[in-house]
Formats: sequence, structure tokens, C-alpha cells
Amino acid sequence: MPTFRAPRGTRDLLPAERAAFRRLETIATDLTERYGYREIETPLLEQTAVFERGVGAVTDVVEKELFLLAPRTEEAESWALRPEPTAGIVRAYIQHGMQTLPQPVKLTMTGPMFRYDRPQAGRYRQFWQFDVEAIGDAGPAIDAEIIELALRFYGEAGLKRVEVHLNSIGDAACRPAYIEELTAYFRGHVEELPQLERDRLERNVLRLLDSKDPAMAALNAAAPRITDRLCGPCAEHFAAVKTHLDALGIAHVAEPGLVRGLDYYTRTAFEFYAPGREGQQQALGGGGRYDGLVELLGGRPTPGIGFGVGLDRVVLALAAEDVATPPETRPLAVVVGADPAATADRLRIATELRAAGLPVRAELTVRKLGKQLESAARDHAHFAVILGDELAGGQVQLRDLEAGSQQLVPLVDLARKLAAAAKSHRHGVGEG
Ligand code: HAM
Repeated sequence: MPTFRAPRGTRDLLPAERAAFRRLETIATDLTERYGYREIETPLLEQTAVFERGVGAVTDVVEKELFLLAPRTEEAESWALRPEPTAGIVRAYIQHGMQTLPQPVKLTMTGPMFRYDRPQAGRYRQFWQFDVEAIGDAGPAIDAEIIELALRFYGEAGLKRVEVHLNSIGDAACRPAYIEELTAYFRGHVEELPQLERDRLERNVLRLLDSKDPAMAALNAAAPRITDRLCGPCAEHFAAVKTHLDALGIAHVAEPGLVRGLDYYTRTAFEFYAPGREGQQQALGGGGRYDGLVELLGGRPTPGIGFGVGLDRVVLALAAEDVATPPETRPLAVVVGADPAATADRLRIATELRAAGLPVRAELTVRKLGKQLESAARDHAHFAVILGDELAGGQVQLRDLEAGSQQLVPLVDLARKLAAAAKSHRHGVGEG
């Protein structure tokens, strides 16, 4: 057993897995650029109140899963690691006066989030999200555009069959009456409620609907549904979102029990699932409209909508579907030498080639030429640059390890020759 291990629920992304994440980040960057989103980066931590007010004090995410930082002094304000990006991005929108920019302000961010959850497959304490927010457009067209963008991300990543589960959860006009009705319903079943849900009944009854407790499944299935109690404007908005999805040819599954785990949502709410995995709390992503959040965090009333994709889960789903991960990168050439001790020559020539933009490794270990060549082959290098007596005359041997051929090349031509060869040579293990 090693002395130290990564904290429970966190993990190291080793190079092969990191490459799979990098590939997704590249797809996310290309896509969001195409759709007119600009990148933002907020701190990993915020004042705890940003999450208490934004996400909601009586939610699993804040009540049970927040990573609180120990204050260094008594008067220090309370900080927490971000459990999700939306509250922080909206805090930044307000702080930097983005209300004065042309609306909507379209922002994207990809990075780690932290939730002190019970770790299991696909559920970590540090996980990565690709997040998109469009602030300042009341919809409904942008609701459909955002859902389509998320689906295109999954598709380009290699998951072709992701389903959209869709609901509307009303707004300040129709939700209060629904909450009263829902509270009355659960009061009638108070004896069957687990303790945490009983405590929440009078404080935030909606959260009972997304309880992870198996004891709640049957009760929730029979609970009154918000979709049947939407006010006129909310019902109209919901219908228009569906019309726009239809116009894009996007099928969706109506999910009247979908209320999301965060308090800021209004109207449109959605989640993405790989078919067959719906019941396991393993959404590949989710999002929705949050028309009250900007005001809740101290800004002017401003509508907004966004989504977050769980990249860890996308990587798992891709592995389950055998979508190839990117090949490991390999050097174009390795600089080796007949004189084991002449490490300075090997380093100097590799440095010049790298300065010319070529992926080249120098063999810096003092060992025999045969061993140096073996390690170049193990790296799947295309070429070995072999330094020998010819170096005094400004020449080196260039060996094509794949073709098995070798030629004498003047040093002044070496970078140009390698660059030309690199063009006709595709990088990646197993492709050469
Ligand atoms: P969320 O549904 O809480 O929404 O998280 C989004 C996605 O992050 C989930 O669907 C899931 O794929 C992934 N995820 C959540 N928790 C974990 C975990 N413990 N381990 C691994 N993956 C996880 C939000 O966070 C909202 N901010 C989305 C949003 C943006 N709504 C509007 N704008």
C-alpha cells in the first residue's frame, strides 16, 4: 500500500484518460465557438452564500454535498468549492456589469466541480463539467438551440443515441399553488417519509421529488405533477419550446417528474441520458432555464438558460460503447549517438529541432547505441537521428525506423528534411 493516495472520491487522470478528456474539451471549444459562446473562467471557490442563495440552501448539493473550506481566521467569510458553475458565472455576470452588453451574453466554461457525495461508479467528489450559459434571452427559441447544442456535443463525441428528457417546472406565478398541493400530498404520507425528507417537507417540498432515497420512488411516481398545473404563459412557453425542437427534428421524452436538484430552475428543465441508463441517476448532463437567478444574486431581473455535461460520465459511456480514445502521441524522431557520454550533442541537436517546431526527443541516458535505438523503437518514433564521427563534418545519419533505410544528411538540412517527412507521416501509435 502506498503511503498516500488521492482523496476518496477523487482520482488522477492518467495520460490515456486525460487524452480522452482533452478530446472532449477540443470538441466543446470548437462547438461553442461555432454557436457564438465565449469562454469564461471563474474561481474554484466562491463565498458559500453564492451557492446557498443561488443553488438553494435546502438542496442536497448545498445541505449535504458542499465542500466547505476551513476558515483561517475567525472573522474570515465562509468559502466553498464550487459544486456547479452556474451560480459563479451569474455572480460574475452581475459583478462585471454584463447586463450592459448586448444580450444574451453567451458564456462557456469547462472545469472541475466538487460535491461531497457518496462515491460510486460515475459519481465522484471531484468531477468535470462542460458548461454553457445564455443569459438575457427569455426564450423559447434559445431553449431549443441550447438543447440542440448539447446533443451535437454528444454526437460529435461519439454518442449518437442520447435522449432528451424534458419538462417545465413553472414559475413564480404557478409554482406556489403547486407547492401547496404537493405539500398536502406528502403530509398525507408523512409516516412513509425517510427522516431527511420529513425535515424538508415544510422547507422545500420540491426536493422530495428528486430524492435519491429508494423509499421515495413509489410516493414520487404518484405525486401531483407540475406539468398539469402550469399557468398560461408557462404552458405557452413550454409548447413553443417543443415546436422549436420539432422544427429541428429533435425527439424528446416527456418527463413530468423531472424537477432537477437545484432550486434556481424555472420553466424549461431537461436531462440527457444514454438509453437504458435513465433510472440510475446517471444523467450525462442536464440544465434548464433560471429566470430568477440573476435577481436572486443581486442583479436586475434577467432570464437565463444553460446546461452542464458531466465529462466523466461521457468518457465512461464512450468506453462502454468502444469509441476509440485518441492514440498516444509519439516523437517524430529520437536523437541518439554512438558515443554514450556525448549527451550535450544529443541535447543540443534535439533542442534545435524542437525550436524548429518538431516533436523530437533526445536520448539523455548514458548507454550504448543499441539500447538507445531500442528505446526509440519502443517510443514508436519514425526516425532516429544518429550522431557519430560525421558530426565533426556537420553531418548525421538519419535512419527511417519504419522503412529500415538510412542516409547521411547535412545538419543544416535536417530540420527541413524531418519536417517534410512529418507531413507525409501521420502521428499516432498503430497508424504508421
Ligand atoms: P447538474 O445536473 O447538477 O446540473 O450537473 C450536471 C451534470 O454533471 C450531471 O448531469 C452529471 O452528468 C454531472 N455530475 C453531477 N454530479 C456529478 C458527480 N458527483 N460525479 C460525476 N458527474 C456528476 C448543474 O450542475 C447545472 N449547473 C447545469 C446547468 C447549467 N443548469 C443551467 N445551466
